[in-house]
Amino acid sequence: MIIDTAVVPVAGLGTRLLPATKSQPKEMLPVGRKPVVQYVFEELTSVGVRRIVFITGPGKASIENHFDINEELVQALRESGKEDLLSDLAFERAPVQYFYTRQRRALGLGHAVLAARAFVNDRPFIVALGDSIIGTSGGSDVVRRLVRTFEAHDAAAVIALEEVPLDDVHNYGIASPKGEADDVFELKDLVEKPRRDEAPSRLAIAARYVLSPAVFDVLERTRPGKAGEIQLTDAIRQMIHGGGRVYGVRLGAGERRFDIGNFDSYFRAFVELALADPKHGASLREFLVRLVNGHHS
Ligand code: UTP
Repeated sequence: MIIDTAVVPVAGLGTRLLPATKSQPKEMLPVGRKPVVQYVFEELTSVGVRRIVFITGPGKASIENHFDINEELVQALRESGKEDLLSDLAFERAPVQYFYTRQRRALGLGHAVLAARAFVNDRPFIVALGDSIIGTSGGSDVVRRLVRTFEAHDAAAVIALEEVPLDDVHNYGIASPKGEADDVFELKDLVEKPRRDEAPSRLAIAARYVLSPAVFDVLERTRPGKAGEIQLTDAIRQMIHGGGRVYGVRLGAGERRFDIGNFDSYFRAFVELALADPKHGASLREFLVRLVNGHHS
């Protein structure tokens, strides 16, 4: 992939997950066996991303530690005959360059992306939110589809979209399609958290983007919107209104977005991905069936 740089913002405060996030990042919460951000990393590297820029903040050092090579741990596993566990650390060896910079104040996602400017310069780049998993049984290549669409249409931005129930549109940025909303389509606008009777579609922004570097100038000019934060959605809207072409790419059948930003979807994600665990999934399923039927043993 020519676009091989991903910006992964992980600087948010995670207040909706307190007290779990009081002294640990939400991006490091476990979902099944792995922390959230490792799923994001695996999704990105599987489609050819080779440079990852984490936008971090106070209290996020464990994310950097997680992606370090831990020679002592490898040595200890070897010496104690636990070689079989080494494969769980194979991700440490992925051919990726890591970069870390800090968002010095938590002023929103748009502000976090702006912190990558000096690093990204004048090249298009991927943005993958560090608190959202795109889950499938076979691994998602949605980022590759975003990149292809970006290149094919000389776009200003391409956004992954997931169809959500009408009752949930008020929680998301919602796409307003220009024409027919096929698998890939051009956007007329984006509406942040609309009421259900005002939603132009049920297609919600799903935590993955490809952006032209032109977004940086727009972000510099973007005033704080909702909750005093500089919103990425506002900057993308401004690009559309300025004549830029912005496209949406739907998540495919079987591709699901798990948002680990609130307890409801975190609990669901944990259960669903733990049920998919090759070793423990089947027995967990039996346990849950017994549990919901009122048999506890
Ligand atoms: P959210 O929009 O869920 O915000 O972040 P938040 O501040 O983390 O959470 P709450 O609202 O306090 O519960 C979506 C992604 O964008 C990053 C977060 O780390 C998360 O991965 N983010 C958000 C930043 O990097 N900086 C910010 O200022 C806000």
